[in-house]
Amino acid sequence: MIACENEYYDVVGIGFGPSNLSLSISLEEHHANVLTAPLSAAFFERQPSFGWHRNMLLPSATMQISFLKDLVTFRNPVSRFSFVSFLHDQGRLAQFVNRKDFFPPRQEFHQYLEWAESKMANVVSYDSAVTGIRLPPDHTHGPADHVRLDVRDTVGGGTRQIKARNVVVSTGLQPRMPDGITRDAAVWHSSEFLGRYGRTDPAKLRSVAVVGAGQSAAEITKFLHEKLPHAQVHAILPSYGYSVADDTPFANQVFDAEAVDDYHFGDGPARDAFWRYHRNTNYGVVDDADIRHLYQVVYDEDVTGVKRLHYSNLTKVDSVQKAGERRRVQLRSLRGQDLKPLDVDVIVFATGYDTMDPTALLGDLDRHCLRDESGRHRVTRDYRLVTTPELACGIYLQGGTEHTHGLTSSLLSNIAVRSGEIADSIIQRRAEREVVPVAAGTPTAVHETL
Ligand code: FDA
Ligand code: NAP
Repeated sequence: MIACENEYYDVVGIGFGPSNLSLSISLEEHHANVLTAPLSAAFFERQPSFGWHRNMLLPSATMQISFLKDLVTFRNPVSRFSFVSFLHDQGRLAQFVNRKDFFPPRQEFHQYLEWAESKMANVVSYDSAVTGIRLPPDHTHGPADHVRLDVRDTVGGGTRQIKARNVVVSTGLQPRMPDGITRDAAVWHSSEFLGRYGRTDPAKLRSVAVVGAGQSAAEITKFLHEKLPHAQVHAILPSYGYSVADDTPFANQVFDAEAVDDYHFGDGPARDAFWRYHRNTNYGVVDDADIRHLYQVVYDEDVTGVKRLHYSNLTKVDSVQKAGERRRVQLRSLRGQDLKPLDVDVIVFATGYDTMDPTALLGDLDRHCLRDESGRHRVTRDYRLVTTPELACGIYLQGGTEHTHGLTSSLLSNIAVRSGEIADSIIQRRAEREVVPVAAGTPTAVHETL
């Protein structure tokens, strides 16, 4: 990859989380292995430095996927950017193997991502939020071969424009709050948890509540119970109890790269079956070990008679009102319609996320992006938005493709393969446009040869 002086790039990535970090490596490895002209690429990230869900890097949290599902291995098992290379580099490979555990701590995986990012730092600009994508102003007729992007400097405040032949949108999940409840100094979403907690005096937290029955809720409940021995911890569950995340081998196949084809080329009933039978591999579910830990805490408190962890099951939050520094929460039991007040110092909504939606970023350009009968973007197998002929450049999505590519869309499971497929598609389209010379017998992409 090369930097571009006139800010006219072959590839511009919006967001630099694991997905676009993986894409940057894929483009780099493609160039190193194939005798084609390098692609110019730039990635823009609004955070001041690399960070992967930093506010949920709880001390004892582990990854939910195998270390082998890193940024590269499923595309290129001999990549120097693998988790195994990272361990070797850190002098920790033997110790990791001695653990006999596929799931690294999240803090260690974050270190791995930072290590990989440090090798790609030349392609990313931080404190840089992309605020819009537009057709070039001088575009009048014929297909547009590039778009313009507005990049706002989140520190200095200025906005500059760049041009891109291909855009890869990878802006991540959006925190979801229940209708009618807004965040404030004492009403948090799990996505801001550690940042908020770090700015709070723990001694002042004598009563806290956590809403939700997913992995985030379970981890935060456990954390607060451990860190605040003087506090009452209230877990508010919409369900009867936590449900276990199904990570058994047959079900886990929904995260295989091949499952993307089965989903994408499947008809409506086939796609529905993925969600109906396998939603419990990821959404609203909790690791078995965490469930057992929390149940043991409840049991131990029953035995000792000193109760601090309180569960309200089949319960939702109706409203949250300010009561001085504290908050009065109205709980609505699903058993009846009665409301029960609960006063807390802080309430954490671990109520999940909405999937990525590029509509706002696309602005006016969105009218050139075709939608299906349900109003969702149409996306080709290579993760490219289907557009009207006016738009000849590529707009690719990493995320937000649950309806076209299935359960892996918002996860790490398939990012190595997916980013390779996107790189292939960009390179293939350039070859078709420019007839770039490819040496005889040279593979078109690293991952096709392995
Ligand atoms: P991600 O959200 O990581 O990155 C998007 C980036 O875009 C962010 O850095 C953001 O700042 C930036 N951005 C957004 N808008 C922008 C703009 N306009 N301009 C510039 N930058 C912009 N999955 C899994 O498979 N295994 C796991 O163990 C976990 N663990 C996990 C823990 C927690 C707490 C959560 C919430 C989620 C997970 N996930 C997961 C799922 C998670 O979506 C996944 O791990 C990755 O974050 C997906 O990477 P992305 O790069 O697609 O998004
Ligand atoms: P989630 O799985 O979507 O769970 C959200 C929970 O909130 C569900 O129990 C949901 O119940 C509940 N909820 C939603 N709206 C509600 C409302 N109005 N009132 C009460 N409850 C409500 O979200 P998550 O736990 O944040 O997990 C998101 C992703 O991050 C998953 O992929 C997960 O695996 C991942 N994650 C990973 C780790 C890790 O790697 N260690 C840690 C945390 C999260 P319903 O199901 O009824 O809607």
